[in-house]
Amino acid sequence: MFLLWLLVLGGLGHHFWKYGLHWLEGPGLLLAPCSSDCRVQLVESIPVGLYPASPSGPSIVDSWLRLLDRANSSVHIAAFYFTLQGSDEETTDPSDSQGRKVLGRLKQLQSKGVKLQIAVNAPQTSTKDTAELAAAGAQVREVDLRALTGGVLHTKLWVLDHKHFYLGSANMDWRSLSQVKEVGLSVEDCSCLAQDAFRIFEVYWSIGANSGSPPLFWPARLAALSSADRPLQLKFNGVPARVYLSSAPPQISPHGRADDLATILSVIDDAQKFVYISVMDYLPLSEFTEPPRFWPAIDSDLRAAACTRGVRVRMMVSCWEHSPASMFTFLQSLLVLSRPPLRCNIEVKIFSVPSTPEQRKTPFARVNHAKFMVTDRVVYIGTSNWSENYFTHTAGAGLVVNQTGSEVGEDQQTLQSQAEELFLRDWSSDYASSLSMDAVDFCPPSRR
Ligand SMILES: *[C@@H]1O[C@H](CO)[C@@H](O)[C@H](O)[C@H]1NC(C)=O
Ligand SMILES: *[C@@H]1O[C@H](CO)[C@@H](O)[C@H](O)[C@H]1NC(C)=O
Ligand SMILES: *[C@@H]1O[C@H](CO)[C@@H](O)[C@H](O)[C@H]1NC(C)=O
Repeated sequence: MFLLWLLVLGGLGHHFWKYGLHWLEGPGLLLAPCSSDCRVQLVESIPVGLYPASPSGPSIVDSWLRLLDRANSSVHIAAFYFTLQGSDEETTDPSDSQGRKVLGRLKQLQSKGVKLQIAVNAPQTSTKDTAELAAAGAQVREVDLRALTGGVLHTKLWVLDHKHFYLGSANMDWRSLSQVKEVGLSVEDCSCLAQDAFRIFEVYWSIGANSGSPPLFWPARLAALSSADRPLQLKFNGVPARVYLSSAPPQISPHGRADDLATILSVIDDAQKFVYISVMDYLPLSEFTEPPRFWPAIDSDLRAAACTRGVRVRMMVSCWEHSPASMFTFLQSLLVLSRPPLRCNIEVKIFSVPSTPEQRKTPFARVNHAKFMVTDRVVYIGTSNWSENYFTHTAGAGLVVNQTGSEVGEDQQTLQSQAEELFLRDWSSDYASSLSMDAVDFCPPSRR
């Protein structure tokens, strides 16, 4: 009898541990009706001087300013760090004016009656911006993941009025608005999805409140509202879309949240014709273990896509002064499959952002920092480099938009086709060069 009770208690305990006290939280599960007719924009930061001849699309800075103008009750931001204003030695030319503009708008929120909450990675390298924002009424929480996951909070996510949001590669850094190439997604009038994005923010916020430890159980009010199996059925600019969010690492994902790595793998596996990938760094390694360890998850999937299923795989990574030299060696090993006898459809290109001598003086700028993937079926927007630690230690987030089979009107476009155009613009530009199999030092510091 005693043993039976022990079993029952143990089972219940395990259930609580895994799912939280969900049936005690009825209200958390009863969602208010939400808006699903969303307006979305693929937004970019194009470094000054890049693509001088072509008109640039909607910019990240404009989308942030627009979202801030629309907010009338709350703004929630999860960020790796804040350096919207540059220090004097960095900002000789061109300046940090756009970053300062965003910072100024954030400071005005309080006086408009809009609550501002910021979850930022701890320890902060510079507290200037966040201290000024706190002085202007913002609540700032530092999120220290070192004890919990051994990583950092690398997510860049804004949620406004629980109705609009932004997710993408751009940091809250003046450079990310004018000196670094970035891609993100701005979504408006979309409370069904924004509420789910807010739950990802709330995970960081609650860890920040508990000085780096997660709550004893993840409450049901933080459980995912979307997943690969149960995507939200929305309209994106009038076109039906199935959408879900993912997050990493699993240690901080409440019940039901799609795992970021599993999401990337499922998107690659789902492709039938092509997989186009634009990431800053790609390494089939666990970098921060001693010694480094081989990590084949994504690499094997790409090889299988190209060599087993005949899918066209195009991989574009970045070259700058901090590029790990081993990345190019690993990419050559991927590329070797394009040779006989297999002749798999794999191509690799390296994107470099050119700089004037003056621009070169700004550290950590002039690089393609975008992280997204587009296949013939879906688009995935993320915040992580593609190496193991980003999925097992670092907090990041992603979003999948699936409009496969959706009816598209004459003046309409899917997000997938916009992302494909964006990728192909970069891929076929002069800034992207094909990786050669024989090059020894493909991205030498002198060329960067
Ligand atoms: C915020 O603005 C929307 C319209 O954009 C309006 O419907 C809503 O009532 C406003 N909320 C507040 C708290 O002012
Ligand atoms: C996209 O939607 C189609 C149709 O519902 C589905 O079969 C496919 O698995 C989805 N793809 C992804 C990557 O979610
Ligand atoms: C990954 O991305 C960050 C910025 O997002 C960059 O600073 C870092 O050097 C990158 N590479 C690796 C291998 O972590």
